[in-house]
Amino acid sequence: MRRKLAAGNWKMNGLRASLTEIAALAKACPSPDCDVLICPPATLLVGMAEACAGTAIRVGGQDCHPAASGAHTGDLSAPMLADAGATAVLLGHSERRADHGETDADVAVKAVSARGAGLTAIICIGETLEDRDAGRTLDVVGKQLSGSVPDGATADNTVIAYEPVWAIGTGKTASPEDASSVHGLIRQLLQDRVGEGTAADMPIIYGGSVKPANVEELLDADEIDGALVGGASLKPEDFAAICSAGGR
Ligand code: PGA
Repeated sequence: MRRKLAAGNWKMNGLRASLTEIAALAKACPSPDCDVLICPPATLLVGMAEACAGTAIRVGGQDCHPAASGAHTGDLSAPMLADAGATAVLLGHSERRADHGETDADVAVKAVSARGAGLTAIICIGETLEDRDAGRTLDVVGKQLSGSVPDGATADNTVIAYEPVWAIGTGKTASPEDASSVHGLIRQLLQDRVGEGTAADMPIIYGGSVKPANVEELLDADEIDGALVGGASLKPEDFAAICSAGGR
C-alpha cells in the first residue's frame, strides 16, 4: 500500500522568524502516520532542516537547476539542496511554468539532476481552466506527464503532483470524484512511461486549495496518495490537521 504524503509548499513566503512554527507543527503532530514534507524558500532551507532535526518532518526545495554547479547566477543545484538538508524538490510547479517559461523537457532534466543528488522529484502537472473548459484536461496532463517524467523514474525517486491550475490559491478544489478520476488516468498513462509495476507504486498527490475542511474526503478518494498544500501549509494548525488526516 502506498503511504500518504502531506507536502507543504511555502512558495515565496516565510522569514527566519517563521521557523518557530516548526516546533508548533511538530508538537501538534508528533508522530504522523504519513510522510510530512515542507518546501520553504531556499533562504530557510538550512534553518528549517535544523529545526526539523529529530522530528518526522522532512524538508524540500521548490526548484533546482539541471546542472550541478556553474555560471548560473541566482540558481540553485540539486546537490546544493541536498547539502542544505533537503530530501526532495518540487519541479515544474505551474507557477514556475508560467513565471519562468519552464517546459516539460526542462522539468525532465531537472528531475534527472535531482535523482543524481539523491532527492525525490515531485513533478507537478495540471491543466488550466481554459484547458478544462475545452475538454483538454487529459491531453494536457498526458503530454506533461510523458514529457516531464524522465526515463528511469521509480516510485522511490519520483512523486507526481496533480495540481489543476484553476484550483491553486483560488479556494476552488477539484471534487474528490474529479481528482480521483484524473489520478486514475494519470496512473494508466504512467504505465506506458515507467511500466506497470512502477506505475502502481508511484505516489500521485493532489494539490489545489487543500485545507482541513476538504482534506479527508480528498485523501479518502481512490488513487489520491497525499496532498501538496500551499496556503494552508503556512498555518501550523491547519497543516497539522492535514498531516493528521493523512495518517488516519
Ligand atoms: P494552494 O497551493 O494550496 O494555496 O492552492 C497549492 C500549490 O500551489 O502547491
